[in-house]
Amino acid sequence: MRLRNVSPDDVDAYVRMRCDPVMMADLGGPLPLEGMADKVRRDAQEAAADLAWLKMIVPDPARPEVAGTVTIWSHDTDDGPISEIGWMVLPEFQGQGLAKRAVRILLEQARDQERWGLVHAFPSTSNAASNGICRSVGFRFLSDVAVTFAGRVLQTNHWVIDPGRDLT
Ligand SMILES: CC(C)(COP(=O)(O)OP(=O)(O)OC[C@H]1O[C@@H](n2cnc3c(N)ncnc32)[C@H](O)[C@@H]1OP(=O)(O)O)[C@@H](O)C(=O)NCCC(=O)NCCS
Repeated sequence: MRLRNVSPDDVDAYVRMRCDPVMMADLGGPLPLEGMADKVRRDAQEAAADLAWLKMIVPDPARPEVAGTVTIWSHDTDDGPISEIGWMVLPEFQGQGLAKRAVRILLEQARDQERWGLVHAFPSTSNAASNGICRSVGFRFLSDVAVTFAGRVLQTNHWVIDPGRDLT
């Protein structure tokens, strides 16, 4: 598996992930198609500037096919700035361990570069696969918490990992 920066050519993959009702079922429903090309362009610029790690998951390095995304970014909360990780894998690639491997690879990179500090994750309480990833990679469960994503309130589990100490 290879992780590469998102590029302006990844609009199709973004649309398939973020504008699809099944993919977004645990994230408050599909986002509008309008504005997605702009979002990809902004994300590609942010990735190229190394402001955030916005990675496309490429299962077979010999082929360009994209299976999903894994990202780490920093943002402000009421309790100050935090680093957060998120992931998505397209339906035809699910159930093969790809999300778990991609999450582990990005957290190993965070550990090796000593970047991002504690990394938080907020999967929906109903997302068994994502909560399973957190548990098996070495995250600690903190609490359940309501978070706002794209203007919608989601019930989530709050997990945290110190990549330098907790990665299993
Ligand atoms: C959630 C998602 C990323 C999982 O991707 P995936 O590549 O299929 O996950 P993996 O194959 O790496 O499986 C991870 C773990 O979840 C388990 N799992 C996978 N699908 C599952 C399911 N439907 N129910 C319960 N457990 C499941 C796997 O057995 C594995 O656990 P293990 O390590 O104990 O074996 C993917 O389904 C997805 O993108 N869904 C839609 C978007 C989304 O919900 N994103 C996450 C928001 S927090």
